[in-house]
Amino acid sequence: MHVGLIHHVGYVVADLDAEIPAYRDVLGMEVGVREVMPDQGVEAVMLGSGPSYVELIAPVTEDTGVARFLAKKGPGMHHVAFVVPHLESTLRELADEGVELIDTVPRRGLGGHMVAFLHPRSTGGVLTELVEDH
Ligand code: CO
Repeated sequence: MHVGLIHHVGYVVADLDAEIPAYRDVLGMEVGVREVMPDQGVEAVMLGSGPSYVELIAPVTEDTGVARFLAKKGPGMHHVAFVVPHLESTLRELADEGVELIDTVPRRGLGGHMVAFLHPRSTGGVLTELVEDH
């Protein structure tokens, strides 16, 4: 396998509305899809006009990975997401190669993209997300 472009970089923040103006008004980035993802206990918004984006993520419930990240490390970079052409086959290939997967099957991410996370233990300490290109 090989990954393609960086699809987005994910930043954890405490409050989306407090942070969006810096990206929209100062950096001039478009504000894209925004939604609450209850299964992850977060609300997220995609910023930029592509091909690469910034994804701001804020916890909406306690005791989620993102809430713990924010409490422990404060706001900041959380993950990097790369485009792959076929996510399911990529995950099978990575599992065969011994890569530790957080998601063994693709799941729905922000804006309806199919995504999967690789464990940072397998990727140099940086949480890595794969996004299927379609
Ligand atoms: Co992401």
